[in-house]
Amino acid sequence: MKDTVSRASSTPEEFAVEARDLRVYYPVGRALLRRGRNFVHAVDGVSLGVNVAQTLAVVGESGCGKTTLCRALLGLVRPTSGMVLYRGENLRHYVRGDTINLKGKLQMVFQDPESSLNPFMDVRQIVAEPLRNRSGPSNTDEKISEVLDLVGLSSEFLGRRPVELSGGQKQRVSIARAIVSSPEVVLLDEPTSALDVAVQSQILNLLVRLQEVYGIGYLLVTHNIAVAQFMSDSIAIMYSGKIMESGPTGELMARPMHPYTRTLIEATPIPDPNVRNLLKISVAGEPPSAIHPPSGCRFHPRCPFAQERCRTDEPALREILPGRTVACHFAEEIETSLVSGGGDVVRTGKTTS
Ligand SMILES: Nc1ncnc2c1ncn2[C@@H]1O[C@H](COP(=O)(O)OP(=O)(O)OP(=O)(O)O)[C@@H](O)[C@H]1O
Ligand code: SF4
Ligand SMILES: [Mg+2]
Repeated sequence: MKDTVSRASSTPEEFAVEARDLRVYYPVGRALLRRGRNFVHAVDGVSLGVNVAQTLAVVGESGCGKTTLCRALLGLVRPTSGMVLYRGENLRHYVRGDTINLKGKLQMVFQDPESSLNPFMDVRQIVAEPLRNRSGPSNTDEKISEVLDLVGLSSEFLGRRPVELSGGQKQRVSIARAIVSSPEVVLLDEPTSALDVAVQSQILNLLVRLQEVYGIGYLLVTHNIAVAQFMSDSIAIMYSGKIMESGPTGELMARPMHPYTRTLIEATPIPDPNVRNLLKISVAGEPPSAIHPPSGCRFHPRCPFAQERCRTDEPALREILPGRTVACHFAEEIETSLVSGGGDVVRTGKTTS
């Protein structure tokens, strides 16, 4: 599928997990008749795929639909339309419980470890949860100690409850719970945003190590493009429920093609004077309404390059270069005008340590 975000493959069958033209609209308000109801357009036609041993980062501001996208992939919210596929199979055919569990092949680390860990359970019970009701040898205790060790927690933690853990320890427990069932793909919803800066890098490095050893695929959701650059092989930029741009991380960071991507990069402090010169566009304006999104291009009220056409015609997500897609009518013209005389700035993509 042409518009499906992938950094390594354009063959849908190869994805471990895939969203195809996925839409999630939440009803809001009190109108009794469906016709009179308003809807939050949380996810509005997203196509992307995640492969094992690779990381796709979805980057966007608060409220753009990142968590809803993860929840729909996991089967925690029902899509309004579109499909979620696991290994090419439409998950609508699964009953709800199977969709969530997929025999543990798809797991999630939630945005807020505070609320995602049951305060009445101890660490042993929390980590063992995905193994419940699964057949096979009952080596649960051994497995739990093994994964706790992997995430850097000793067996002393087995009997502790969440209230006895620091933020970083809670997120390590969340990661242990996510990997205990040997998943193919883990959805990481802002896995470090609730943590201190020093702890953030420890958790990111832990996730990178686990991927290297176990070949887990990650869908990493973040509002921080620097985190995405550190972790990912490819990036999809999300705005108002839609993908605005996607491509391999190194290429997208070195040569952003959508004005919103440039804005996001500009808003992130990057110690490289060449890059900042190239991306000198200030962030302005408010995020759009999710109930009544702007007509035409959803970014037009904030876009410094907006023209009349942008207010009426919605730009399609189109392949602008091999492996690169962008939803902007004027991406080529804008790039030419900004880069002329500036030279190319090359930055590396995924960095591991
Ligand atoms: N259960 C719900 N009912 C109605 N609206 C919802 C619901 N959950 C989320 N929303 C709305 O859907 C939109 C997308 O929310 P979502 O939580 O997916 O965004 P996000 O990108 O994860 O934001 P953040 O970065 O703040 O976590 C927002 O406008 C939000 O208010
Ligand atoms: S389509 Fe128009 S408003 Fe949208 S990003 Fe491109 S130039 Fe800006
Ligand atoms: Mg969220």
